Amino acid sequence: MSSKSILLIIGGGIAAYKSLELIRELSRRGIRSRCIVTRAGQEFVTPLSVSALSGEKCFTDLFSLDDEAEMGHIQLSRSTDLVVVCPATADLLAKAAGGHANDLASTTLMATDKPVLMVPAMNVRMWQHAATQRNVETLRNDGVTVMDPDEGAMACGEFGPGRLPEVLTIADEIEHQLSAKSGPKPLEGKHVLITAGPTREPLDPVRYLSNHSSGKQGYAIAGALAALGARVSLVSGPVAIPVPRGCDLVSVETARDMLKACEEALPADVFISVAAVADWRPAISASQKLKFKDEGKTLPTLSLSENPDILATISHKRKKRPELVIGFAAETHDVEDHAVAKMKRKGCDWIVANDVSGDVMGGANNEVALVTGDGVERWPLMDKESVARRLATRIVDKIGAADASQLAAE
Ligand code: C5P
Repeated sequence: MSSKSILLIIGGGIAAYKSLELIRELSRRGIRSRCIVTRAGQEFVTPLSVSALSGEKCFTDLFSLDDEAEMGHIQLSRSTDLVVVCPATADLLAKAAGGHANDLASTTLMATDKPVLMVPAMNVRMWQHAATQRNVETLRNDGVTVMDPDEGAMACGEFGPGRLPEVLTIADEIEHQLSAKSGPKPLEGKHVLITAGPTREPLDPVRYLSNHSSGKQGYAIAGALAALGARVSLVSGPVAIPVPRGCDLVSVETARDMLKACEEALPADVFISVAAVADWRPAISASQKLKFKDEGKTLPTLSLSENPDILATISHKRKKRPELVIGFAAETHDVEDHAVAKMKRKGCDWIVANDVSGDVMGGANNEVALVTGDGVERWPLMDKESVARRLATRIVDKIGAADASQLAAE
């Protein structure tokens, strides 16, 4: 159990009631919440219910003689591990971005020396408004983490981005921030090997077979694990996204190059096979550009050869098999049944199963199920960063926890 605590600033929006669920979820995870409720926030939740759930006094006023005598706003802003604003309204984002300090919440945000996490929730037009987007960008440039809101039907009847993310997703993010930003990191000393992106299988010097993988999910996982202290080797096919901080990139094109790069990067404690590896390659890759339309010739037939299965190869290694091997299973139907069968066939320990019948490949969101020896865990639809953080938390539980407590004891 963690002995961490957050300072939770509850803003005035319809999503404020979910902050009560958040307090409970965090307390289940051993994280204490001390709360500030803004004046508008008190229209949606009462300080009494907040203090009953958090088990702590709830703060509301900047100029309260009682509060200032017990604990001033400066001390309040610093005697915590993380400041979380949830829901972060358009007004709170604007105040924080502009450096205003005219109430307890904004003053605390100005005075704190701790990391700040903002969880926005507002009407879709307010979220998309140029002023809000400008404020979010300013805050991110200032080092504040601003989560992206979920998309969907809103309390006001409109549809689009602006919904508060799922409480579990927010709790995951908070847990991630708490372990990433303080003390010994739970994956320090661990080496994680990850494949990501597509592979390209050349037909000739100018043509290739490939797929739509963007690399986003694999890169997000690599970044989340690096933030937790792991040494991350990211073996990637060609993609157009930046390498996450702290990851060592090995760029490859073909499946065979990818396998070779992975074998060279072993030993590793964890192997995660996120890449969309092309199952086949052209049997012959011409050294000169093929002429498909030569006069009098019929269309050529494309013969294929099977590519090595990187995940199965690493899973079945006798020597240097990583302690935890995780595969991905992209399916369009009977997702979980296929994933369980695939886990057995490939010899890996866990499978992250996802339904790619929608716009997952290249899209920002992913709805997955984690299949382990203990069963199937269905996760809600979330963005790929949230999937990455939740998977990273599971990996820490599996292989990082013992070492983290050892590190803490040293
Ligand atoms: O069989 P399927 O392609 O659905 O398996 C998906 C999993 O296997 C993914 O983890 C993918 O990275 C991995 N894979 C691989 N080498 C291949 C094909 C798939 O490592 N040739």
